[in-house]
Amino acid sequence: MKKFYITTPIYYPSGEAHMGHCYSTVAADAIARYKRARGFDVMFLTGTDEHGQKIELNAQKSGLKPKVYVDEIVAKFQKLWKILGISYDRFIRTTDDYHIKSVQKIFKILYNKGEIYKGKYSGWYCIPCESFFADAKLVNGKCPDCGREVKQQEEEAYFFKLAKYSEKILEFYKKNPEFIQPESRKNEMIEFIKSGLEDLCVSRTSFKWGIPVDFDPEHVVYVWIDALTNYITVLGYDGERNSEDFDTYWPADVHFVGKEIVRFHAIIWPAILMALDIVLPKQIYGHGWILFGNGNKMSKSRGNVVDPFVLCEKYGIDAIRYFLLREIPFGSDGYFSNESLIGRINSDLANDLGNLLSRTVKLVTQVNVSDVSESVLKEIQSEKEKEIIDSALRLANEYESEMDSFRFSIALSKVWNFISLCNKYIDFKAPWKFLKIAEKQIEFYNVLYTILESLRVISILIKPIMPETAEKIQIQIGAKDVKNICAWEDSKKWGLLNKELKVVKINALFPRIDCEKELNELAKLSKSEKNDLNSANSNMNLISIDDFKKIDLVVAKILECKPVKNSNKLLELVLNDGNSNRTVVSGIADYYSPEELIDQNVILVFNLAPAKLCGIQSNGMILASTDKKDKSVKVIFVNDLSPGSKIS
Ligand code: MSP
Repeated sequence: MKKFYITTPIYYPSGEAHMGHCYSTVAADAIARYKRARGFDVMFLTGTDEHGQKIELNAQKSGLKPKVYVDEIVAKFQKLWKILGISYDRFIRTTDDYHIKSVQKIFKILYNKGEIYKGKYSGWYCIPCESFFADAKLVNGKCPDCGREVKQQEEEAYFFKLAKYSEKILEFYKKNPEFIQPESRKNEMIEFIKSGLEDLCVSRTSFKWGIPVDFDPEHVVYVWIDALTNYITVLGYDGERNSEDFDTYWPADVHFVGKEIVRFHAIIWPAILMALDIVLPKQIYGHGWILFGNGNKMSKSRGNVVDPFVLCEKYGIDAIRYFLLREIPFGSDGYFSNESLIGRINSDLANDLGNLLSRTVKLVTQVNVSDVSESVLKEIQSEKEKEIIDSALRLANEYESEMDSFRFSIALSKVWNFISLCNKYIDFKAPWKFLKIAEKQIEFYNVLYTILESLRVISILIKPIMPETAEKIQIQIGAKDVKNICAWEDSKKWGLLNKELKVVKINALFPRIDCEKELNELAKLSKSEKNDLNSANSNMNLISIDDFKKIDLVVAKILECKPVKNSNKLLELVLNDGNSNRTVVSGIADYYSPEELIDQNVILVFNLAPAKLCGIQSNGMILASTDKKDKSVKVIFVNDLSPGSKIS
């Protein structure tokens, strides 16, 4: 059996799943279902990318351990995928044990091969945030997170020899013109490589929430080696042996990714694979973004999230799946709005498809078919029926060629053109007029049979994208559970339905929506969603008196003070807290000389967990204030209080 391996990006569980995440996942699911229907042995992978500083910080803010924090969010992603009918075969979490072990092995192999080397990472460093930032990330030259001064600093780090792969990657693009899709993204990649690649920093020491480099545990593997390798570790690849799954499914047939991460997949990922002597995936498809109202990429930080849980609950999953894949051509950006969603539901789903089914079923249930079924068998067909049958028989091949190139929107528009043809055909024939005229009854049945067969074909083709709707149609036209009429290849055949026209009437597929009323309701919901967010945020900033009581603040005298070697910012202090002496490292060297501090009484956070700064263990922290006007830092001196006094 031919295999097909498709992946989505693995999502950061740093906030809740939103419509943007649903986009790749629904698209990949539609392709997985489509390929399975066509007889492929499919491996469909999705998952979560759980390490990194952002997640560490978010967890800290929520007062949770990182793993506990991500567990909660990952469970919500999984719940959403279940609701949306995502038929993944594997769900990888980068915190899974097997992944961690494999990443460590892969890292070591690359190091032993000389593909990874130890060097120095330099960049803008914010001491309180313990983070490096690239030039472009700074806001007015200051730390983008806390707004404080940053300084150029160096840190030991491992580097992957990315630069040496430039030519090899360009060569690969040339030999594999389909590798990056759509074409425009390929040109961007070529330009990027030609402008010069640099070796890639693949480890960090400034945060801890990551996979430790096992032979140098001060370092954690920095995002991309951890994240990208998920596509092979999930198949059992750990750098040394090829597992059965790896042999069966690798190379991936396509990685679906958003356009902003094409670079990582089309440059870094190939280079890592080349370094490991592994064949490259067949294709990277960079889809566009769903933009929301004001042209922003939808994301929680911009506060323009439309809750997919709410929308699925309100309109059904197929409406959302249809909308996402129909409204926006897959390679381009496009807008999401509640108005266009409701517009599509009313026109395409309720009017076109829903109406075609309901009017047909209604007509069939109005008559007793048993008398005439014999005559129908004669299959008298006029030019009009032939037109429908020809279109139906062409449709599957046309649809396949669009789906094979991930042109969901065009594939769907072909089906909807056919639906519209069928509706016009019914209008033209007006079969209800024949009902009472005995000699026209055969024609009446002929029209109905033609439409029911058309609906059978339609249901097969839309099933990968709208699985629930396809099933409902098949139940209503009496095709469900009938053998050999609703498999993929049956969409290329005509006349498979039982000629006795057994139909079952159930509720409308997509009830029409009162647009204005609904938009008002959604607006209210979105307000309360924002309010929820606001109150969640303000709740996060509020602490209870019990929380405050956890912090022990004590007056301490500075006994000694000296600059920290290799640091312009840090001073090393020895403090007496009334009982004993302890060392504290503080980032105040820009504002005080050691002499100014000695013998001063300050406020010490007594029970702060120790941390290492520039190799020195700091046992606590002294309180200082950043002046609102000139941002200068002033230590809070309390010389009228004696060392050991408690502050509460
Ligand atoms: N963890 C990395 C991917 C690693 S893959 C080895 C990451 N995660 S992410 O959660 O930030 O984004 C995951 C995907 O969601 C990206 O492909 C991104 O483009 C996509 N989307 C997030 N918001 C989106 C829209 N508004 N529209 C469409 N997709 C967008 O990057």
